[in-house]
Amino acid sequence: MFIKVENVCFSYDSVDEGLPVKNAVDGVSLTIGKGEFVAVIGHNGCGKSTLAKHLNAMLLPDSGKVYVDGDDTSDENKTWDIREKVGLVLQNPDNQLVASIVEEDVAFGPENLGVDPKEIRERVDRALKAVGMYEYRTHAPHKLSGGQKQRVAIAGVLAIQPQCIVLDEPTAMLDPNGRDEVMDTLHKLNRELGITVVLITHYMEEAVTADRVIVMDGGKILTGGTPPEVFSQVELLKKHRLDVPQAAELAFRLKGCGADITTIPLGVEECAAMLREVLR
Ligand SMILES: Nc1ncnc2c1ncn2[C@@H]1O[C@H](COP(=O)(O)OP(=O)(O)OP(=O)(O)O)[C@@H](O)[C@H]1O
Ligand SMILES: [Mg+2]
Repeated sequence: MFIKVENVCFSYDSVDEGLPVKNAVDGVSLTIGKGEFVAVIGHNGCGKSTLAKHLNAMLLPDSGKVYVDGDDTSDENKTWDIREKVGLVLQNPDNQLVASIVEEDVAFGPENLGVDPKEIRERVDRALKAVGMYEYRTHAPHKLSGGQKQRVAIAGVLAIQPQCIVLDEPTAMLDPNGRDEVMDTLHKLNRELGITVVLITHYMEEAVTADRVIVMDGGKILTGGTPPEVFSQVELLKKHRLDVPQAAELAFRLKGCGADITTIPLGVEECAAMLREVLR
């Protein structure tokens, strides 16, 4: 087990209308295995970002424990080990890109870790190639498209050579092309380099491509499982104001009209197959 979250609670030190803000993360337990691709979905404010920040010791639990590769994130001696193992990519790449040239930006993380300059050069080239941005290495980050910027931000985390990347809504600000670029990059890193991916997203089309989906609500885990297991629970998800993939929604409505549907489709191909069955 690579990451183990045990009954974690966390509240921010803030008050809203005189009342303390309730637990942003409220008794969450989960495990993430090496090499898994896990999607985390949930309504605005349900605690996804707060949970993500616990996975690389950016936040420490008020109660409960987070272990990364066996190390307790509350152990200050382990903080940097943990941050080398679990890289966090923030929602807005502009907040993550700091240098005026792409390759300098990607070098920033390993430089901070005191990596030998010759090795930094190799790591930067490798990371830029892995995200398909090597040709842009001498460009200015601010002139890139949203998808390209986000891929450079991912390269910056890759240059630290983490075993796991946690991404907080990395495609939220991107157009459909940019989203595809980032999703293709993440699946390639997962498949070819065995990097564990934890993807926070509000796009159901992205969540269905994960090995496993975790659904959060009000700081807690509502349900979890493989995409078919999770998205066949259409009523539960709708009750908690969550989207379901359009194909699943259509199947659910047809079922409601008495159509004989056994497996809920998640994508266009499966949906077409379902309709062929139903219309036969
Ligand atoms: N820095 C902060 N200070 C105080 N309260 C915060 C802070 N960050 C988040 N919160 C509160 O904690 C709760 C969980 O927020 P969090 O950002 O983890 O949710 P989220 O699921 O990532 O939401 P979103 O989908 O909008 O990104 C919310 O009630 C939010 O208002
Ligand atoms: Mg968030």
